[in-house]
Amino acid sequence: MNNLGIQTSYDLAIQEIELLIKSDSNSLAVLGNVISNIHFKFKFFWTGIYIVEGDELVLHVFQGPVACTRIAYGKGVCGTAWRDQRTVIVPDVHQFEGHIACSSESKSEVVIPVFKDGKVIAVLDVDSDKPDAISNDDAVFLEEVAKLISKVLS
Ligand code: SME
Repeated sequence: MNNLGIQTSYDLAIQEIELLIKSDSNSLAVLGNVISNIHFKFKFFWTGIYIVEGDELVLHVFQGPVACTRIAYGKGVCGTAWRDQRTVIVPDVHQFEGHIACSSESKSEVVIPVFKDGKVIAVLDVDSDKPDAISNDDAVFLEEVAKLISKVLS
């Protein structure tokens, strides 16, 4: 269950995302729908993808307020998840040294690396406007989503 008490079937959500991915061959169109699906189903504050380009992450499809366009390797929660090649759950963004605040309304966050051929090619970033809103179940679900996103990204 979600830390906000939202009862969502992760299995059903994965099935929906698989259908969205099968529905079209245009990666931008498909990923836009995938991010929208997660964002509104789980009532997140910000949901999006950053793509690895050289030594930076560059903003890709997202739902939510305007966000930072570029994040350096190892910087912020996103750059840390990229460098450490692991999911980073941040229950309180104010306690994470180096957190990059794109919006002061973001209170908790999770970042999941997207792997292709063993390399991080992108990260999936999800923010909540409530503290401690991301459960371990959410993270496991989002790791599954990241695997599906990897299939779409070239
Ligand atoms: N908070 C992130 C930056 C991206 S925004 O949350 C959309 C970070 O510290 O990397």
